[in-house]
Amino acid sequence: MISTFRPTHLLACLALSTPMLASANPILDGYKAEIKGSFTAAAGEKLYKTVGPNQLSCASCHTDSPKNAGKHAKTNKAIDPLAPSANPKRFTDAAQVEKWFKRNCNDALGRACTTQEKGDFMTYVLSVK
Ligand code: HEC
Repeated sequence: MISTFRPTHLLACLALSTPMLASANPILDGYKAEIKGSFTAAAGEKLYKTVGPNQLSCASCHTDSPKNAGKHAKTNKAIDPLAPSANPKRFTDAAQVEKWFKRNCNDALGRACTTQEKGDFMTYVLSVK
């Protein structure tokens, strides 16, 4: 009886796939370490489109897709795309990211975002290719 299954093959597969399972973003890793649970792109996308008490959503300024250049809903000022696939500088500076989460969650939702929401949001925006 010849079996093609070899445990060493399985190990090689795991070794190759593991780096793809780990998040490629240290800021997202930091949020992940803060919560007991996980993030989903679906929840992040929902948040992105949620219209808050001021009739603003994230999409109001960042457009329907994080890949697009946006425009400030009040000042008309241009905003570079949020998705790193279109703008590699995004989500590289933790202080910057925190500053804008704080300001924009307040603008759009009328409150701060939770760590869960920030992680879901980032998971979504990072997933947009
Ligand atoms: C009123 C307009 C407006 C709304 C609404 C808005 N944003 Fe923004 N956002 C901005 C501006 C302006 C910047 C900073 C300019 C830039 O970086 O191009 C920015 C930048 C950011 C950044 C910085 C990312 C980085 O690495 O540089 C994050 C994160 C962000 N927004 C998240 C959100 C989230 C989450 C929401 C919805 C809850 C949201 N924004 C809604 C205007 C807005």
